Amino acid sequence: MKAKLPPSSRMPAVLQTIGWWVRPIAYTERLRARLGTPFTLRLAGQPPFVVLTDPADIRTLLTADPTVLHPGEGARLLEPIVGPNSVILLDEGRHMEQRKLMLPAFHGDRMQRLTGLMEELTERELDSWPLDTPVELHPRLQMLTLEIILRAVFGLDEGPRLDRLRERLPQILTFGDSPISLIPQAQRLLSGRGRFGRFERDRADVDRELFALIDERRQEGSERDDVLAMLLSATHGDGSPMSDEEIRDELVTALVAGHETTASSLGFAFEQLARSPEVQERLASDGDDYLDATINEVLRRRPVLTIPEPRLVVREIEIGGRTYQPGVVLTAGAYLVHHDPAIYPDPYAFRPERFLARKPGTYTWLPFGGGRRRCLGASFALLEMRIVLRAAAERFVVEAAGPRQRSRRRMITITPGDGARVRLTRRASGPIAATESAAAAATQPAAA
Ligand code: HEM
Repeated sequence: MKAKLPPSSRMPAVLQTIGWWVRPIAYTERLRARLGTPFTLRLAGQPPFVVLTDPADIRTLLTADPTVLHPGEGARLLEPIVGPNSVILLDEGRHMEQRKLMLPAFHGDRMQRLTGLMEELTERELDSWPLDTPVELHPRLQMLTLEIILRAVFGLDEGPRLDRLRERLPQILTFGDSPISLIPQAQRLLSGRGRFGRFERDRADVDRELFALIDERRQEGSERDDVLAMLLSATHGDGSPMSDEEIRDELVTALVAGHETTASSLGFAFEQLARSPEVQERLASDGDDYLDATINEVLRRRPVLTIPEPRLVVREIEIGGRTYQPGVVLTAGAYLVHHDPAIYPDPYAFRPERFLARKPGTYTWLPFGGGRRRCLGASFALLEMRIVLRAAAERFVVEAAGPRQRSRRRMITITPGDGARVRLTRRASGPIAATESAAAAATQPAAA
């Protein structure tokens, strides 16, 4: 049994950190080519970071006992934004308890009830996309995914509170872009001052709005389909309801975990489709199976979290013939697994057909991580992607508006380098064209 860590590059930790941060995809591919797998990343100020890529090892990782690995501890940096009750930050019993409270709200069947709302918001957004000129879709997709979360998860109706939160929430999210946000000691020192002070004031404004919303909705007690309604009716094991603070923290968690991830995944979908006219043609005419296969392939080629939540070892664990001691961080190299030619032949080709013949494998398709930490919003995100891509395929032909740019890092996710810049033209058979021709026909004098 080997106790030594897998091989690592001899480059200083600072350079490894820069490589990992600036070129998240190319750098890990280079390490795999040089060192084989698993390998160890040495990141400045962080414990050794072991990247696993063997599906059997990943299975052991994702199914390990919760007392052995702590993903929550590694996510502590998010606490100023998501709050101390967030499911993302917790481990062991407390994690399971919050997760159980949230699961029914995000269940696939429950999500179906949000379809109408998501379709309406999508149609409205797509109506505003300009035709026949280059357009960056990523910022527009960010607006759409934000709107969908605010309406379907926070349960906000149109009105001044929605307007205020739409403006304020992204401000507290961008705090995570600042290097200060990565250092908890700096956060404490800067409390009340400068950029952190402004963040604290914005967060206080947001919290006031959210607590008022939760209070009103408790009073109303009406039946609704949004996630907030489900959280209001969820109960702990002892029958007590979730506290206002718990609900606030889980709503903001859904926003942090689900807004940028879905926007970037959709951005990558458009980036890929712009270069695959034959996939677009099939999407416009084929059924849901092909649409789902396309989404699975987009998430394989570009898992926006190139690794799921890193797991901190707190009790010795054996994986793949090696023993890992407490203090080491283990993670599944999702991007690398997705581009292993032994698992996905011709892995750099964008080919939805590969998912027509077989369903995504639990330990070989990892855009949503896995095990008891698997993304809670996976059904929500997949439904949203289905609705947006179906509506877009019916309306538009998407073309590239320039050479492909390499993916960029935004906080912990990757995003299309050129903001998903494409050119849209109207699909001849699309619903708009159909509506327009119907309108045109209506204004034509009837044929004699
Ligand atoms: C395409 C979009 C999305 C992707 C690619 C994605 C990906 C992920 C990944 C990789 C994890 C970590 C899983 C692990 O470590 O095993 C995660 C966790 C999580 N995601 Fe998502 N996510 C997406 C959308 C969403 C949405 C829309 C929501 C909520 C509305 C959401 C809520 C969460 C939550 C709450 C967790 C933490 C689960 C836990 O710790 O138990 N995600 N997501």
